[in-house]
Amino acid sequence: MMKPHLVTVALTLAAAHAWAEAPAGGNVDAQLIKQGEYLSRAADCVACHTAKDGKPYAGGLPFDTPIGTVYSTNITPDKETGIGDYSYEDFDRAVRHGVGKGVGSLYPAMPYTSYAHVSPDDVKALYAYFMHGVTPVKQQNKGTDIPWPLSMRWPLGIWRGLFAPDVANGTASAPGGQQAASGDAEVLRGRYLVEGLGHCSACHTPRGFALQEKASTDADGTAFLSGAVVEGWLAKNLRGDVNSGLGSWSKEDIAAFLKGGRNAHSAAFGGMAQVVQDSTQHMSDADLAAIAAYLKTLAPAGKGDARTLAYSDATGQALRTGSDKSEGAITFLNNCAACHRSTGKGYAETFPQLAQSSTVLSGDPASLIHLVLKGAQMPGTRSAPTQYAMPGFDYRLSDGEVAAVVTFVRNSWGNQASAVTADQVAKVRKEVGAVAAPVR
Ligand code: HEC
Ligand code: HEC
Ligand code: HEC
Repeated sequence: MMKPHLVTVALTLAAAHAWAEAPAGGNVDAQLIKQGEYLSRAADCVACHTAKDGKPYAGGLPFDTPIGTVYSTNITPDKETGIGDYSYEDFDRAVRHGVGKGVGSLYPAMPYTSYAHVSPDDVKALYAYFMHGVTPVKQQNKGTDIPWPLSMRWPLGIWRGLFAPDVANGTASAPGGQQAASGDAEVLRGRYLVEGLGHCSACHTPRGFALQEKASTDADGTAFLSGAVVEGWLAKNLRGDVNSGLGSWSKEDIAAFLKGGRNAHSAAFGGMAQVVQDSTQHMSDADLAAIAAYLKTLAPAGKGDARTLAYSDATGQALRTGSDKSEGAITFLNNCAACHRSTGKGYAETFPQLAQSSTVLSGDPASLIHLVLKGAQMPGTRSAPTQYAMPGFDYRLSDGEVAAVVTFVRNSWGNQASAVTADQVAKVRKEVGAVAAPVR
């Protein structure tokens, strides 16, 4: 048996060899592969193309669509089961145009409508990384679980024609594209990352009747990034609205959230915890600042909350003196106050504040109910490794109690938002697979 340090040397040599190995017809330089690796992080390819407990990029993660389940594919460079025999053109056709080699049109679960905004140079770097920087894995793709005739892919081609942006070389938002001539370089870089690789709109933009994003750039209107529910979580409004959006967050607040998964206002949970963990924490400070600068340029979606809500400690006083005996107040004291405190201010970067929180104040209470029922855990990041968690209360609180406590936090400490009913809670309880309400 080899000694450990020999194994290390052997592996290092093997890796160096793989890097140095040139493809037929040219040199692939290590710098380009490295750049591709960085871009793959920004694009979060790994999140979708890796099954739970599976090998990186070997595919097999299920995606529910209204007509059945689609599985992500093996995008390792294995020649038989992966994309090892893809030419650059084949790769580009899948990533930016939504057409798989030998498959036809792809389901838009693959966010090619966003990647359409990526520059050809960046697609080249990604290609270099996937061909030479990723370990090949032999793993057959799973077919879809969609029954015939719905499984036919030609309607997806029509969908593509209707809803996918045109991929011109040097798209509108790519650096060097038409609009790059005007405007601040940092904001343009941020826009490029958000619209393209970051595919932020895949979750944060509401979808229309055919599941197309209602806007694929800000130029299409204020629906862009105005918030949508994805897998039971509200991917919040990222526009300038003061209470439900990012109007009250500074540029630094946004960058800190994307890097560490938490800031003085909030902490990441649900789908965003994974985005931070796999993707944004790995981005450079300059790119995160660019994303933040761009998001700060987005006008409010105009959801009727231009007025800043002032903090008030009347709720805190009532809780501390015991003068509020409502079901919401009692439920809050017994279940939430230990962490979020009677002041509603929590402890910054540990237990997020509930006063002036966009999660609490969003018109759609999906995340709020989901959190109380199932709990959540912050992402662990290099700059903030501790994963503070909130317990779920599904086994403990009835639909009526959850409705009462959620309505209470939406209307305390100066917060103002619509009441939540027990029926709404019952519906979310079913959708997110929380355990049944306790019977008393
Ligand atoms: C939000 C989830 C998601 C992300 C992010 C994502 N993909 Fe995909 N991708 C999918 C799904 C699902 C499919 C299969 C679609 C189908 O079968 O129609 C797919 C298909 C593909 C295919 C076609 C493969 C084949 O077998 O023909 C390629 C290539 C691909 N993705 C590459 C990438 C790359 C490169 C990235 C990052 C730049 C990426 N994907 C990011 C979900 C995703
Ligand atoms: C897989 C879906 C998904 C993707 C992709 C995604 N997000 Fe999110 N995002 C969410 C969800 C869900 C939330 C709500 C939970 C939370 O606040 O952490 C959220 C919350 C946020 C918040 C906090 C807003 C607030 O008011 O608390 C910011 C900022 C954010 N996302 C930025 C981004 C950016 C920038 C991108 C693209 C680089 C992005 N997101 C991509 C799902 C997603
Ligand atoms: C043991 C401490 C603890 C208790 C008890 C607790 N929480 Fe939390 N809460 C947390 C932590 C930690 C987070 C951050 C979770 C994450 O980001 O994944 C959080 C997040 C939240 C958020 C999201 C805030 C934001 O914008 O990021 C809301 C809303 C919330 N809790 C409400 C409640 C309510 C209502 C109760 C009582 C039913 C409760 N919490 C009980 C620890 C707690």
